[in-house]
Amino acid sequence: MSEFQPKIMVFCCNWCSYAGADAISGPGAKAKTKVIRTMCSGKVDPSFVLKAFSSGVDGVMLTVCEPGECHYIGGNAQAMRRVELLQNVLQQLGVEPERLKLERTSNADGKQLQGMVNDFAGKVAALGPVG
Ligand code: FES
Repeated sequence: MSEFQPKIMVFCCNWCSYAGADAISGPGAKAKTKVIRTMCSGKVDPSFVLKAFSSGVDGVMLTVCEPGECHYIGGNAQAMRRVELLQNVLQQLGVEPERLKLERTSNADGKQLQGMVNDFAGKVAALGPVG
């Protein structure tokens, strides 16, 4: 019997994590991943996240620059507020809010990034496939 391997979408900010994005799906990956490069987490429209879940993605992660490090001043703060709101919306829709995760990073390398995604994938796998 094969172990459930969740589908994870990762929105990678160009400045804090995209440089390591190739490692996410490399050897040791615990999920089927799709990486979306974004110039700033503030550009991730809430509709992108909802569309991902409605398309059968089991978990969505956003990597966000640490406070004070966003290249567009307040995009990271905007993303943090949106993730909180989206988690509430997901709950109202019957989707576990833990399926949406925000990770603050500062120049994450591939190994760190894969670790973050694998950790998240393990939690999502425990929830099972999205309904
Ligand atoms: Fe990374 Fe804005 S540039 S979150």
